[in-house]
Amino acid sequence: MQLRYSAAAVLLLLSLLSTISAHNITKILNKYPDFSTFNHYLTTTHLAAEINSHETITVCAVDNAAMSDLLSKHLSIYAIKNVLSFHVLLDYFGAKKLHQITNGTALAATMFQATGTAAGSSGFVNITDLKGGKVGFGAEDNGGNVDATFVKSLDEIPYNISVIQISKILTSSEAEAPAPGPSQMNLTSVMSAHGCKVFADTLLASAAEKTYNDNIDGGLTVFCPGDDAFKAFLPKFKNLTASGKQSLLEYHGVPVYQSMAMLKSNNGLMNTLATDGASKFDFTVQNDGEQVTLKTKLVTAKITGTLIDEQPVAIFSIDKVLLPTELFKGLAPTPAPAPAPVADAPKPAKKGKHSSPVAADAPADSPSDDAADQTADSNGAVRFNGERFIAVGLSLCMGLLLTAVSF
Ligand SMILES: *[C@@H]1O[C@H](CO)[C@@H](O)[C@H](O)[C@H]1NC(C)=O
Ligand SMILES: *[C@@H]1O[C@H](CO)[C@@H](O)[C@H](O)[C@H]1NC(C)=O
Ligand SMILES: *[C@@H]1O[C@H](CO)[C@@H](O)[C@H](O)[C@H]1NC(C)=O
Ligand SMILES: *[C@@H]1O[C@H](CO)[C@@H](O)[C@H](O)[C@H]1NC(C)=O
Ligand SMILES: *[C@@H]1O[C@H](CO)[C@@H](O)[C@H](O)[C@H]1NC(C)=O
Ligand SMILES: *[C@@H]1O[C@H](CO)[C@@H](O)[C@H](O)[C@H]1NC(C)=O
Repeated sequence: MQLRYSAAAVLLLLSLLSTISAHNITKILNKYPDFSTFNHYLTTTHLAAEINSHETITVCAVDNAAMSDLLSKHLSIYAIKNVLSFHVLLDYFGAKKLHQITNGTALAATMFQATGTAAGSSGFVNITDLKGGKVGFGAEDNGGNVDATFVKSLDEIPYNISVIQISKILTSSEAEAPAPGPSQMNLTSVMSAHGCKVFADTLLASAAEKTYNDNIDGGLTVFCPGDDAFKAFLPKFKNLTASGKQSLLEYHGVPVYQSMAMLKSNNGLMNTLATDGASKFDFTVQNDGEQVTLKTKLVTAKITGTLIDEQPVAIFSIDKVLLPTELFKGLAPTPAPAPAPVADAPKPAKKGKHSSPVAADAPADSPSDDAADQTADSNGAVRFNGERFIAVGLSLCMGLLLTAVSF
């Protein structure tokens, strides 16, 4: 009896421990509130997932103050991704190795270079031993300036992942260049030509069209209802107020680029172009095998096709009009006990309506729009679901052990 309980407890403990050990840059940086903005952007740009998938990697993180210099340049999220991918080195550089570079200087390949966006030999970071034991970093295309310096090591798992702090963002004109423009893309004509003409025509007659176009460069994903679905919905649509109509249309756009692969691997809440302050206007992406569904409390729509999927724009067709509770409360089924509340997960995008690219990828880790909020967020309960789960598991083990002992 006693033995069986203990064995169960040990097994439980082991399985819990094994869930902690995967390398997870988000989790590593969560320990440092001062790096919350950098961490937030690794998540929104999906670089976090790319970092986690590399076995040998070095992340040169900058603190919130240094990130605000980058954000003050008002780059598109696409350019921010390029800049940050410049801070991910495809080799292992722990503090020790940095101070022992052969001949005092080296060029490190970066994730930016690996994307193929970089031309020629740019995309490398020059690491140089400076006088007085300092180690300097600079983009190779930055005129020989190695003016960012190594500050400290944040986390090192030798030869797997090294997370270090450098003093400032590495400037690279190439990484900061605006997205190579989907310039001539006309969203509504793409939709019209692929079975979503009713939605496209409605969009053309609304101020929402501008919201969509304004978001193209920063990344945009559109879920457009097919003609049958939107035609059937028109009477209800006509019943909405002018601002309700605009919100309904904007509700079908998400201000970040999400490829089909990203949608399949990222279940969770998603903010939309209509998200503004207290009006959440969000929905949940949920995968069921190969099928991606979008759920509001009132409707579950399926993705039926891909009209275009080319960074920074993706347009998918869906089989139903998405109904936000903000506009169709009356239709809500009698309030069942709310399913595990997505709680405080998504902070509504501050003025997200027309510019800020914000999507909460997963309820447990939804980034908020306001970088300054991130410090608070990183201490918030939602982020620590994993730890809470472990805590519960551990107390369960203790309980079992105690029970065993008392026998
Ligand atoms: C990484 O850690 C974060 C925060 O602890 C968690 O929300 C996320 O699900 C983890 N990602 C993976 C791939 O385990
Ligand atoms: C270091 O410098 C020496 C002499 O200039 C050179 O032969 C060698 O290839 C250099 N090593 C590296 C790793 O660059
Ligand atoms: C790195 O930059 C320094 C300073 O501009 C330069 O002297 C050095 O040769 C560069 N290193 C490499 C490997 O290009
Ligand atoms: C480093 O990664 C390898 C391969 O994924 C793994 O086998 C090894 O245990 C890791 N080392 C540490 C210290 O986590
Ligand atoms: C897209 O095409 C439609 C008609 O073909 C036109 O009315 C609309 O202004 C175009 N949109 C943009 C942003 O050029
Ligand atoms: C339009 O609104 C009116 C008044 O609120 C309501 O009676 C009617 O059923 C609505 N029509 C549709 C199609 O929703």
